[in-house]
Amino acid sequence: MTNGFKNLKAVTDFVDSRVLELDDDVRAVGWGSQESQELRFDYLIKDFNLNSKTILDVGCGLGDFLHYLKKSDIKDYQYIGLDISKNMIESCRERHQQDNVQFYQGTIFEYDFETIDVAILSGALSYKYKEATSAAKATLEKMFQLSTEGVALNFLSTTADYELEKNQHYDPAIILTWALNLSKKVSLYHDYPLYEFTIMLKK
Ligand SMILES: C[S@@+](CC[C@H](N)C(=O)[O-])C[C@H]1O[C@@H](n2cnc3c(N)ncnc32)[C@H](O)[C@@H]1O
Repeated sequence: MTNGFKNLKAVTDFVDSRVLELDDDVRAVGWGSQESQELRFDYLIKDFNLNSKTILDVGCGLGDFLHYLKKSDIKDYQYIGLDISKNMIESCRERHQQDNVQFYQGTIFEYDFETIDVAILSGALSYKYKEATSAAKATLEKMFQLSTEGVALNFLSTTADYELEKNQHYDPAIILTWALNLSKKVSLYHDYPLYEFTIMLKK
């Protein structure tokens, strides 16, 4: 594939096939290592107190954020995982059988989530397809609208030394403009050793 994916359905097919191929490996969700996955989570939640909160994880993959939460001192949370991939969600339902956890297949526009405190997104906006940029903006807006406290998302950065054809990189200044149109309480972290940045918006 030289020009990225044709549309979101092509992304879904790609992700579905990766799960079957790699199953329990962190590479099934597109990350090079568990350390880099956890560094992303560290940045996503650094400005929130997630104790007793309801957390929406958009593009939850295999639900690995739950492993991260279990290793942390965060308690009494409710977790909602959402992913476009049927195989990811089936795998999540097998892996994480807990009362405080729910999984949904689809995009954020297909469900009416009513009680979200904090919404996070790691890696789900990294796929290049025709409508990727407008979908990313709409996803950020919807996450912010649904959450009572705020949101945090990461994006691949246009400052990276190289870009794979399948990946969508974003100019941090443009994402900052999108964010400031929604909230005055915005932080952007572009200081960690991955080719990306994290943006956090609070209500
Ligand atoms: C790079 S993986 C990361 C998974 C997980 N967040 C993690 O860090 O382990 C991105 C995931 O986002 C999902 N995804 C991509 N676009 C999405 C969308 N518009 N809505 C929901 N999920 C999406 C993919 O199916 C994939 O499982």
